[in-house]
Amino acid sequence: MPVATRTGLDGIPAYRQGRSPEAANGLEPYKLSSNENPYPPLPSVVDAVAAAVGSMHLYPDMSAAALAAAVAGHWNVAVENLAFGAGSVEVAAQLIHAVASPGDEVMFAWRSFEAYPVLTTVAGAVPVPVPLDVSGGHDLDAMLAAVTDKTRVIFVCNPNNPNGAVLAAGAVEAFVAAVPTDVLVVIDEAYLHFNVDPGTAVGVDLFRRHPHVAVLHTFSKAYGLAGLRLGYAIAQPELVENLRKAAVPFGVTALAQQAGIASLAAESQLQERIDVLVAERERVYAGLLDAGMPVLPSQANFLWVDSREGTTALASLFEEAGISVRAFAGEGMRISVGTPAANDRVLAVARAAAGAVSGGVA
Ligand SMILES: Cc1ncc(COP(=O)(O)O)c(C=O)c1O
Repeated sequence: MPVATRTGLDGIPAYRQGRSPEAANGLEPYKLSSNENPYPPLPSVVDAVAAAVGSMHLYPDMSAAALAAAVAGHWNVAVENLAFGAGSVEVAAQLIHAVASPGDEVMFAWRSFEAYPVLTTVAGAVPVPVPLDVSGGHDLDAMLAAVTDKTRVIFVCNPNNPNGAVLAAGAVEAFVAAVPTDVLVVIDEAYLHFNVDPGTAVGVDLFRRHPHVAVLHTFSKAYGLAGLRLGYAIAQPELVENLRKAAVPFGVTALAQQAGIASLAAESQLQERIDVLVAERERVYAGLLDAGMPVLPSQANFLWVDSREGTTALASLFEEAGISVRAFAGEGMRISVGTPAANDRVLAVARAAAGAVSGGVA
């Protein structure tokens, strides 16, 4: 007899990792499907990790004290406001586990980060996806209307993955003020550093004004540490205590902690790379528009092409050119901003595709 497994897991879609590209026609393949930073880690970050390698026979500091002090200084919060995890996705899981009991509801806009419904269901809670509005933004009025006495957590993703849409400060402030104070609002700012919209909502400002707000940050994107797995929440100390209980013990390695500290110390060098990626995002956006693609403006390190029924055909053209993108059949595709060479190829494919793909592609 096979091992009996927990009921309900069958209905959970497995989290899909961005595809790796096939080498095509002798071209260097480019992976633009996971919103990774295309630049290698800074030498100072590599050195810090290398220095910690010799201690890998020891368990890491579970409190991540030195990293917590650095992050607390960076955001001007207390170390008691910080909970770390193996990537912000693990911290998102901690937040759900710490707050939602089985049968409680976890709300998020949809489409948004693919892990939200998966983590919610694994925690035994009920996902409540609320469709984006026609322009691709969070429909905050509809989300407010969907709050019930079972709602425990609301994820607000700014800028939103996968379309890069940004939420205005006033709109989120009004939303948070209207959400009952016993419901946790999580502002997921994985792409914070790429967001140069002066009117954007800022998670840490909301956190300072509203005790029922938590902020989710990651070292995976702008800091380029996706492979080391490091993220954190900024939240009230009582919630942080429960997040630590819900965390996988020793989930944040010493190497990740050292890399985080070194990254915060290298902020100005990292900013140069961020500036390049933001400039490249704008170049690719303009080029895609020029090629007739229905691309949306984005404040993240990726762009959304609203290709709808033309998505699968268009995605194959990118694949054939050695570029993997994140395609959602019938909806559209997300293309990460890569190196200038990768972005040049994206634009060349888009220009060649003009007219070759019908459907939602203009
Ligand atoms: C919106 C959002 N939040 C969180 C994450 C999780 O990133 P990580 O677990 O690498 O910190 C991602 C990753 O793609 C994301 O897009």
